[in-house]
Order: sequence, then structure tokens, then C-alpha cells
Amino acid sequence: MSNSNWKQYFDKKAETHGASVKSSDYFNEESFFMQRDNTLRWLGELKGKTVLDAGCGVGAFSEPLVANNTVYGVDFSVKSLEFAAGRGLITMSEDLTALPFEKGKFDVVLCIGVIQLIEQYVSVIKELARVTKPGGTLLIETLNRGSIQRKLLKLFERSNKFDRMYAMDELKNVFMQHGFEQIEFMKIYHPFKFVTKSSGQGALSGTFCTSFAIKGRKKSD
Ligand SMILES: C[S@@+](CC[C@H](N)C(=O)[O-])C[C@H]1O[C@@H](n2cnc3c(N)ncnc32)[C@H](O)[C@@H]1O
Repeated sequence: MSNSNWKQYFDKKAETHGASVKSSDYFNEESFFMQRDNTLRWLGELKGKTVLDAGCGVGAFSEPLVANNTVYGVDFSVKSLEFAAGRGLITMSEDLTALPFEKGKFDVVLCIGVIQLIEQYVSVIKELARVTKPGGTLLIETLNRGSIQRKLLKLFERSNKFDRMYAMDELKNVFMQHGFEQIEFMKIYHPFKFVTKSSGQGALSGTFCTSFAIKGRKKSD
């Protein structure tokens, strides 16, 4: 789908589902909260930080961070942003390929469930890297291309809803090219409730995890 079609799609979802995470396109609400809680635990406790939720949708993922941090939410779905603002995010309607922030503004940048929609994902990662502070963290969560479950699902699903899926090594290389180090993975095995963590892909877990999160620390200039 093109960018403007995705924008309409998520505006419509937010209109239909309101602030509910159903508008975020997860398997179901339980899977959303499981994924969110595991990811935030993996990120570690955050206090007094400036956080960017890039492609925040209705803001449910970063809502727990609002109490102790300043959280900005950027998305091109204006309708979704209304609900994100209701959750306490400072919202801005922008395209992720051109962010209106100065270099190094954010201690933590999150981009959850977004890059699978974006053909020009390297330009998005370039922008996210630019606005991450030296010593800060970039965390991206997306679909695992190597997943056997996703391959099976594709046999039955005719729609090409998600433009892209990613190999973990592919994203690791893009992170390194954009100045990140200490790169780690958290693998998610839907519908199971556990996750595994590692610094590399790992042959078996790379086949069975449905999604993964990758995080890295931005090197000092
Ligand atoms: C699957 S939803 C995930 C929302 C949220 N991160 C979450 O986990 O609940 C993807 C979001 O990315 C936004 N998005 C996709 N491409 C974008 C772009 N190029 N610029 C800004 N937002 C974009 C969509 O509008 C949508 O809200």
C-alpha cells in the first residue's frame, strides 16, 4: 500500500476502534499488552527522559512512560493522534522520513510495528538515528521474515497487507551503518507468552519467533 493509503487506513481504524489497541493492528489486545510489557521491561526503567514514540498510533504502547518522562508521539494519522494526546503524549502529525526535531533530541526512540508498512524504511531509520542522542537508545519492533508461522500464514492469506518483513541480520547491519553499538534482540513467539533475548539471530529461535525487537546504543560523535 502507498503512504496515503496507510494514512487513510489508520484514520479509519481509529474512527472505528477509538483509543482501543485494536486500531494498532496487533493479533489481539492480550498479545499487544504482553508485547508491550515485555518490551518496556527489556528497555529498563526510564525516568526524566525525553522519549519519541515514532508511529505512535493511539499512543497505547508508550502510555506507561508518560508519568515519569516527556513523551512525544509522531504519526501521520491525525485521527489516531487525537487518542494519543488523550493518553498524555505530546503529538505531532508528521511523516517519519522527515522529522521536525533537532539532531540528538531524544534519549530513547521507539518505533513499534511501523517499518513493516514502509518501503523506504532505511530513510526512516536514518531519521530516527539522527534524532537519537549520543548514548541514547533506538528500539524498533517488527515482523520476522524468517518466521515459519508467517510463511504458513502467507499461504492462506491473499492480501499483501504488510509490504515488508525483516531478517534480524538485515536490521542489525542498518543499525551499525547508522552509528549504533551494543545491539541486542528480543524475540517474540506469538501466541506464546514468553520472549527470549540475545545479541545474535540464533538459528532455531530465528525460525520460530514471529516478531522481534532490536535495540542499540548510539555511539558518541
Ligand atoms: C501498526 S500501527 C502501530 C501503532 C503503535 N506504534 C502501536 O504499537 O500501537 C502503525 C502506525 O504507523 C503509522 N505510520 C505508518 N507509516 C508512517 C509514516 N511514514 N509516517 C508517520 N506514521 C506512519 C500509522 O499511521 C500507524 O499509526
